[in-house]
Amino acid sequence: MGRVDDVGERAMVVQVLSEAERFKLDRSDDAAFYAEPRFVHHLDGAFRDRLTALYRERIPPCAVVLDLMSSWVSHLPEELRYERVIGHGLNARELEANPRLDQRWVQNLNRDQRLPLEEASVDAVLIVAGWQYLQQPEAIAAELLRILRPQGQLIVAFSNRMFMQKAPQIWTDGSDRDHLEYVARVLVAQGWPLPQLLAESTRAEGPMGWLGGHGDPFFAVIAQKPGPGERREPATVNSSLH
Ligand SMILES: C[S@@+](CC[C@H](N)C(=O)[O-])C[C@H]1O[C@@H](n2cnc3c(N)ncnc32)[C@H](O)[C@@H]1O
Repeated sequence: MGRVDDVGERAMVVQVLSEAERFKLDRSDDAAFYAEPRFVHHLDGAFRDRLTALYRERIPPCAVVLDLMSSWVSHLPEELRYERVIGHGLNARELEANPRLDQRWVQNLNRDQRLPLEEASVDAVLIVAGWQYLQQPEAIAAELLRILRPQGQLIVAFSNRMFMQKAPQIWTDGSDRDHLEYVARVLVAQGWPLPQLLAESTRAEGPMGWLGGHGDPFFAVIAQKPGPGERREPATVNSSLH
């Protein structure tokens, strides 16, 4: 574990990555890459169904939810209404088209990691297919700990695909298991309790699935901010990959 940076009023940030590990092939402004909206699904239906089921199981309807690194979809269960859903992303038109969002903002997290949200104001933070593009994940992890309420949850979900040129070297060089361990390592370095790690295969939709075909593999890192006076729980790893 590396250097500790004091960032003024913000929490201490413990640096985990080397400069080389933050390097990405396309160093141009990320805002330019996301300037045109992409009204496509980045993950297949099997992955999205698994993610929605996880949200149904984990996020209570009274929650204030932050969908960080969002787009035109949030994958939340259609039948559930939450207290408020806040969306963040890099393309305003995608966020405006997202029917789940009550409020939204655009911010390049590789330029500015300070989130414009009050301390302990959010119950659940969701990041889907987004962590892999963070070049300063340590500062984001520290901010998420600040804005979540005690016992609030962070769910970081991803599969095995990416925009290769926009992902830092730590991600492009790693295996699926490395990705899970890396996200957990960054969180723990900022003071998060050890998270739960999920690694699951999914069944392809339609005839391919009936024949045993697989969909996008599902990975998630689930962390819970401790309540006042609570001690850290040991990590559990649930893996059903085959
Ligand atoms: C593959 S998309 C996933 C979008 C959405 N979460 C979903 O499930 O469809 C990656 C997203 O990461 C976010 N993103 C990528 N680079 C970013 C950056 N530098 N700052 C802020 N957000 C970024 C954008 O919101 C972008 O839409």
